[in-house]
Amino acid sequence: MPEVDEIADGVYRIATFVEDDDLSLNQFLILDDEPLLFHTGPRAMFRETLDGIARVLDPERLRWVSWSHFEADETGALNEFLEFAPHALPVHTEFGAALNADDFAVKPTRTVPDGGAVDLGRHRLRLLATPHVPHCWDAVMAFETTTATLFTSDLLAQLGHRPPVTDSDVVEPALSLMRAFPDVIPIGGHTFAALDRLVALEPATLAIHHGGACNGHATRALVDFGTGLRDMAGTPR
Ligand SMILES: [Fe+2]
Ligand SMILES: [Fe+2]
Repeated sequence: MPEVDEIADGVYRIATFVEDDDLSLNQFLILDDEPLLFHTGPRAMFRETLDGIARVLDPERLRWVSWSHFEADETGALNEFLEFAPHALPVHTEFGAALNADDFAVKPTRTVPDGGAVDLGRHRLRLLATPHVPHCWDAVMAFETTTATLFTSDLLAQLGHRPPVTDSDVVEPALSLMRAFPDVIPIGGHTFAALDRLVALEPATLAIHHGGACNGHATRALVDFGTGLRDMAGTPR
């Protein structure tokens, strides 16, 4: 059974810890008039994720499903959710739809332009195109404007079974993962340009796909993570 915790007002983290990988897979549910699921988790984990959602709302009420980039742990169960919830539709950028979702998804994708938003009720989710950040051409970062929650996908991912939300350091554990798996995020000028754009949003909470969510010093954590990546990029492997 996944762990279910409210990490910001109306934003729930549904986390399944995979012992063999020492990694949590965190899906996020925004509870509102038009509930949105950000990341679906893998297809094999669909029932478990569904059970977690059901502790917050009737999963048939899901209206939107979104994600950062097309990868099994972010979109594997996309069609399962679209088929389970009668009114659920995918939402992504025009490019993300054209590259992947239009072919894969069993329902048409609602698209928003870069920086555009979907209104959920009292929450509003903006999608910012961040190609190859964390990875994949279609990648976006999503920002919920009411709670200033940034959904960072694999940026700041941490290994280990961690508390659902913390105001202690997430940067060193995230850089430690990067040192262990240096190819997980391609680092270049595009990475730092995207990070600058994210820092300018001044997020209050980082809803991270793997590990614990970060609040209390979220913007600082993004800045420090960028500094750590710059150091790594300048250090020969
Ligand atoms: Fe990924
Ligand atoms: Fe991931």
